[in-house]
Amino acid sequence: MTNTTPKRRLWRDIKVFDGLRTLPEAMAVVTEGAQVVSLVPMREFDERLAKGCHNMGRGGVMTPGLVDCHTHLVFGGSRANEFEARLEGASYEEIARRGGGILSTVTATREASEDELLELTRPRIEAMIADGITTVEIKSGYGLTVGDELKMLRVARRLGEVLPVRVVTTLLGAHALPLEFKDDSDGYIDLVCKEMIPAAAEEGLADAVDVFCEKIAFSVAQSERVFEAAEAHGLPIKIHAEQLSSLGGATMAARHGALSADHIEYLDEAGIIAMREAGSVAVILPGAFHTLRETQLPPIAALRKAGVPMAVATDANPGSSPLFMPTLMLNLACTLFRLTPQEALAGMTTHGATALGLKGGGRIQEGCTADLCVWDIDTPAALAYAVQPGRLRQRLFQGELTHAF
Ligand code: NIG
Ligand code: FE
Repeated sequence: MTNTTPKRRLWRDIKVFDGLRTLPEAMAVVTEGAQVVSLVPMREFDERLAKGCHNMGRGGVMTPGLVDCHTHLVFGGSRANEFEARLEGASYEEIARRGGGILSTVTATREASEDELLELTRPRIEAMIADGITTVEIKSGYGLTVGDELKMLRVARRLGEVLPVRVVTTLLGAHALPLEFKDDSDGYIDLVCKEMIPAAAEEGLADAVDVFCEKIAFSVAQSERVFEAAEAHGLPIKIHAEQLSSLGGATMAARHGALSADHIEYLDEAGIIAMREAGSVAVILPGAFHTLRETQLPPIAALRKAGVPMAVATDANPGSSPLFMPTLMLNLACTLFRLTPQEALAGMTTHGATALGLKGGGRIQEGCTADLCVWDIDTPAALAYAVQPGRLRQRLFQGELTHAF
């Protein structure tokens, strides 16, 4: 006879950060199969709850599995040389204008096969999984031909099938202007709108569409054309906006109901209001700010005051954020951007999920999916306070224990 009863697991006396706040009392948590079924203060704990449960231990801190809502994890090659050039004084923009930067990763990514890209990306995601990620967004954007963009998205989808992590894919065909379209950026946008988006939609390879709206990339008008094509195919939109200058991309994206506007160091008051009205999430990326040694801070206090939800993500990529450690971002969001540790944690759980359109994700509550991390720390703030790998005690993905240390 097969045992059809789903496994029950019990944690006792554990501090819980539920995705928005730290619960005031020590808790008992029970999961059954892929769900959290009970979340009760220890004070009200009844031993009958423990019946049939596998004992998962006591103490520590439980958080939702971390959600990294903005990465460029699939890429070929390395940009260590560019890192050195920047240390010698070249700027990110100068390197991009010289044909280095994103375009050098494009060359290496085009040269790699789908299988090669999969093997290159696997250890990057495994490192992030070991740091608590249970959901990760992955963008294309280093292919810049229909075939190479779809190749990147297929790699991302396959990674979600072979690793215990939820992968959400984003088509970022409008990331940079490929050399074949030099002096014809509108022609390239035509290709994105008329061929790339339809092909990705047809194959079900993209969960959303993103654009890099910037002086060194695409204008607000071009970005809007991409969004109209995405909408025609029923795909939600996101934008890289106001990273190096204030063009108004976030405001335009919010008018199109964008899930998020990301970077936004130069976001102005009109952008904040538009985002609040649209319910767009502000995705802040302290890794890129740190790596590029930016000085313009995103308008954190104004976003907070307006009630715009703030997500925190790694932006893991070979150029502007070669940082593959989600918990480091919690620390940087606090030290560089003055988020509170609770805000940073909510940014990598609840609000990260919202930025991906995963309503109700990144939470711990009765009935939610059991994507959980248990950490060897005494308070949730410690996760942002110290940069210290190795504190993940247990990780559950959809109720399955994938890591126990
Ligand atoms: O989010 N801003 C544009 N795109 C990436 C950088 C990618 C790269 O430099 O390779 C970002 O920072
Ligand atoms: Fe990015």
